[in-house]
Amino acid sequence: MDLIVVKTKEEAAKKAVELIGTELKSGRLQSLGLATGGTMVPIYNELTETDLDFRDVTAFNLDEYVGLDAEHPNSFAYFMNEHLFNKKKFKDTYIPNGKAQDLETECQHYEQLLAEHPLDLQLLGVGENGHIAFNEPGTAPTTKTHRITLTESTIEANSPYFESKEAMPTEALTMGISSILNARKIVLLAFGEKKRDAMEQFLKGNVTDECPVTFLKNHPDVTIITDLERLQE
Ligand code: F6R
Repeated sequence: MDLIVVKTKEEAAKKAVELIGTELKSGRLQSLGLATGGTMVPIYNELTETDLDFRDVTAFNLDEYVGLDAEHPNSFAYFMNEHLFNKKKFKDTYIPNGKAQDLETECQHYEQLLAEHPLDLQLLGVGENGHIAFNEPGTAPTTKTHRITLTESTIEANSPYFESKEAMPTEALTMGISSILNARKIVLLAFGEKKRDAMEQFLKGNVTDECPVTFLKNHPDVTIITDLERLQE
């Protein structure tokens, strides 16, 4: 595991984009896993400033709220279009469809797509409660793409993006822990003191479903980029 400590989010974004660029230029990046949320904004800002060419790369997003479509300004599909896909052309972009008629079939279909395009690199953020994607505490390491109920902690953290707390969906579709661990390389970004507890558990604690980010300890190629100092003391 590589731990890169930086001073600012912008510096972190440069490092992350450097890593992505290295994979891309070496021809090893056919399938790229992406995330949403505040952590990713500086990364996508930086990425769109480069001349990196993603026209041969297929992108997969981690998750989507149940009930929101790509036109809804709080959907993750909308976020991705705004921050990246309207500015950078990819071969194909996939995101779970939270408005699918049959959500179970949608999850299976998504997992099938992932099997056809094994992820070369997955970008990840982490929740204050240690979630990765929307795999909340208590999620099994064997999980594939599935439907989940969001925890109160996640609703607290994400509802400020919505008109009101009540307007925020309480369910989502998410890649599972096992879908994420299948990625060849993982780049985890964590900024700010709110993420310290989860990151300390990850670096110093045991692997436990109480803090899903700790499952990354079972992955052979994880790079952490963070502005949190003294994480390993
Ligand atoms: C987003 C996702 C989440 C976020 C996490 C951190 O697609 O899967 O796990 O990465 O909730 O969110 P921010 O970056 O907003 O702190």
